[in-house]
Amino acid sequence: MSQDQYVLAIETSCDETAVAIVKNECELVANVVASQIESHKRFGGVVPEIASRHHIEQITLTLEEAFTESNIELDRIDTIAVTEGPGLVGALLVGVNAAKALAFAKQKPLVGVHHIAGHIYANRLEKEFEFPLLSLVVSGGHTELILMKEHGTFEVIGETRDDAAGEAYDKVARTLKLPYPGGPHIDKLAAEGEANIDFPRAWLEDGSYDFSFSGLKSAVINKLHNAKQKNETLKPEDVAASFQESVVDVLSTKAYRAAKEYGVKQIIVAGGVAANQGLRSALHQKFAEEDIELLIPPLHLCTDNAAMIAAAGAVAFNQGHRAGYNLNANPALSLERYGQRKQ
Ligand code: KG4
Ligand code: ZN
Repeated sequence: MSQDQYVLAIETSCDETAVAIVKNECELVANVVASQIESHKRFGGVVPEIASRHHIEQITLTLEEAFTESNIELDRIDTIAVTEGPGLVGALLVGVNAAKALAFAKQKPLVGVHHIAGHIYANRLEKEFEFPLLSLVVSGGHTELILMKEHGTFEVIGETRDDAAGEAYDKVARTLKLPYPGGPHIDKLAAEGEANIDFPRAWLEDGSYDFSFSGLKSAVINKLHNAKQKNETLKPEDVAASFQESVVDVLSTKAYRAAKEYGVKQIIVAGGVAANQGLRSALHQKFAEEDIELLIPPLHLCTDNAAMIAAAGAVAFNQGHRAGYNLNANPALSLERYGQRKQ
């Protein structure tokens, strides 16, 4: 008789304390996210020390809520997955230690998960993967094109050389005096404006799948500064629309080219910026005529959550990966190396 498998996951890499339970790799039965955004807003970004303290306050409550929401007891859990990196070290440590304590107390297996692998696997809660697939990861800390030929292996074919896409959104938003995190605010503003300012697009060398957003960010800041000095008025919605068009153009064009070159069956979009309406519609347009399936997670699975860590952790567990009680937070964990490890 086959028995259902339950994976409990904890995610505390940045400013969300999250706990989730996933059944049989793909079925979400609990998904609790305690966001700290309000506490960081007045500083215009995440303050690491404040993040760690909030995680300590929230971790037990979010765990209890996940058990209540799913009606599943800790004894029934088969393995405990936790984000081991990358992220803020003090924040990661809270999740890693909570997971180790639970695993030790209940003698359950422990699995470490890479945060970006999690963002990618958020999509598997919606749709089965078909390989080879290409993933466009766009978050506050990452902008990467990742090729997957099978479960659990990751080949980074392009990455940002400076700012991440979300970081550029947040910095431009700050210049436009919009609240933190700025991505959703720019997205909304952009929908009301016209992309009538010609901002640069960093295509880089021919054939390169790398990204660069710092030049664009500086161009926006300079444009606003010069207009102010000349007493010209620029409509913020036009600045937002022009900036967004430049980001979306580069992201969607490079993703499209890579998907064709590597002959992938699916293209997956992951990370907080996957919530961006401009990016979503540009990708839908680009792939509409192609025999490549486009997967974009629902909004609540785009930003940080533990459901994605459970989905990636379940696969790692079933592939035989186990972490020991020496599992540590690894703020600079490499995705490729994570995918290559034997245990
Ligand atoms: O994946 P995520 O929740 O956290 C990280 O792992 O970084 O991504 C957060 C980032 C922030 O920079 C935020 O501004 C951006 O995602 N973001 C957006 C949108 N929603 C969130 N950027 C553009 N448009 C959006 N609608
Ligand atoms: Zn993230």
